[in-house]
Amino acid sequence: RRVFISRDMASVALGADEVARAFADAGCAVVRTGSRGLFSIEPLVEVETEDGRIGFGPVGPDDVAAVLDGSHAARLGKVEDLPFFAGQQRFTFARCGVIDPLSLDDYAALGGWIGLDVARTQAPQKVVDAVKASGLRGRGGAGFPTGIKWQTVLDAPAGDKYIVCNADEGDSGTFADRMLMEGDPYCLIEGMAIAAHAVGAGRGYIYIRSEYPYGIATMRAAIEASAHIVAPFVLEVREGAGAYVCGEETALLDSIEGKRGQVRAKPPLPALKGLFGQPTVINNVLSLAAVPFILSEGAEAYAAVGFGRSRGTMPVQLAGNVRHGGLYEIGFGITLGELVNDIGGGTANRRPVRAVQVGGPLGAYFPPSMFHLPFDYEAFAQAGGLIGHAGITVFDDSVDMAHMARFAMEFCAAESCGKCTPCRIGSTRGVEIMDRIIGARESASSVRAEPVEARARPSTGSARTGEGYLNRALYSRDPSRIDVSIEAQTTLLRDLADTMKYGSLCALGGFTPYPVLSALDYFPEDFGAPAPIKEAAE
Ligand code: NAI
Ligand code: SF4
Repeated sequence: RRVFISRDMASVALGADEVARAFADAGCAVVRTGSRGLFSIEPLVEVETEDGRIGFGPVGPDDVAAVLDGSHAARLGKVEDLPFFAGQQRFTFARCGVIDPLSLDDYAALGGWIGLDVARTQAPQKVVDAVKASGLRGRGGAGFPTGIKWQTVLDAPAGDKYIVCNADEGDSGTFADRMLMEGDPYCLIEGMAIAAHAVGAGRGYIYIRSEYPYGIATMRAAIEASAHIVAPFVLEVREGAGAYVCGEETALLDSIEGKRGQVRAKPPLPALKGLFGQPTVINNVLSLAAVPFILSEGAEAYAAVGFGRSRGTMPVQLAGNVRHGGLYEIGFGITLGELVNDIGGGTANRRPVRAVQVGGPLGAYFPPSMFHLPFDYEAFAQAGGLIGHAGITVFDDSVDMAHMARFAMEFCAAESCGKCTPCRIGSTRGVEIMDRIIGARESASSVRAEPVEARARPSTGSARTGEGYLNRALYSRDPSRIDVSIEAQTTLLRDLADTMKYGSLCALGGFTPYPVLSALDYFPEDFGAPAPIKEAAE
């Protein structure tokens, strides 16, 4: 019997290797695939039958006999018919979880290389036009139109041009880049080869974070196996060393060049002066992996799906305290509430959802009253957030949002490359301010808990108006003269957030205010202020 078991890092973490060994010991032909993307059914075993592949999951090494005779209680039927999969529009992840990731035959049998064949029959400008017409925007987070980026590189006069794939997927709760590289590596290679043809590049680099050893090994093996197909284009994997900031495109280029990963000032744009000073297309894994579909199925087919200026599909990643965590690829426009409650099934522990963070550690926290937001670059920007790399992290009602705001500042302080002052110094000052707010909040609540007669006489304090007060409260070098009241520290926090937002050189310092301010605005009660009047959740 042929059985299909994922060898994706997440599946292996849940015991897929032991299950695969048990089936092999029982005489089955085990095909290791990528993950289908629903972790609550992993380890998943699909058994080949006359009626197609029948799934069972989660399955343990002792379940072999019950799975093979079909009596196992976790019989799922055809995996693609499960509601979690039936509602998806898998343009990019169509093959992931279905094929043996390194089988060239499997890849070709399910539409692989058609996009590259089409592209190579066309002039570079026509390929760039197709990407423009598809409406594809950068899936790393910024949402810049991919076709316009490619046009800039195509138009740049230069001998050497490069294609660089950003696989330094550092956002919390995201795993789509990894899943694609482990589950369908030729799709990324094909996308990069199409980009190379479109702009005239001879060499490409895939920069993968060191935390993805399976992704690195799979990509290296896939590059070797497909070298004859993408030639004369040559590809190479470069391994990161664990710095979040190396996901920023210019720091990433420095890192590939063998330097310490530090952010470069822009301009010049990498499109004009990128790797080794040459014009460079630098795109996220998901942007490049979307391209084969666009060339093989047509730009119109891609653009037909979506919402407003956000065209095509987005592989949304549901993580954190969520019942059905996993990857859900769907056209833009689905609401945040549908994703969290209908598809994700709410929290894993059944407590009420209190907040979701969208877009990684630099993304805003939204309460359920914002669940009507459609998944769309512009809608999220208008609401003071970002969709980023489409990671959604769910928190239940036990979350302390002041601590989450502190964590954002702490994260920025730990990961700052140190090149600019608002981020390098601001993040550390931000942690201190959050400590004062949390300290003041906690002492206020302990005072409230004491009997009235035992309370200290309230200080008359300084007048709460005027520049003199503000300067003393916010900027005094003498700690005893700093007004540590929540009100003064909150003013200071907003002031600091403005400085970081407008004065930082890159998104790390510039976007850290999103989680901080959204926590403050949507959850003021956690910062010692009165709770906002609740709107009815959708
Ligand atoms: P950006 O807005 O500065 O640039 C976006 C892209 O467009 C860059 O590649 C830039 O070089 C290019 N570009 C801009 N104007 C161009 C032109 N005229 N011609 C050609 N190319 C042009 O944004 P940035 O700093 O690159 O990225 C910030 C985003 O990164 C954030 O939105 C955040 O969501 C995301 N991010 C993603 C992470 C992940 O793990 N995927 C981690 C951290 C942040
Ligand atoms: Fe470096 Fe932070 Fe400035 Fe970005 S914002 S350049 S990470 S110091």
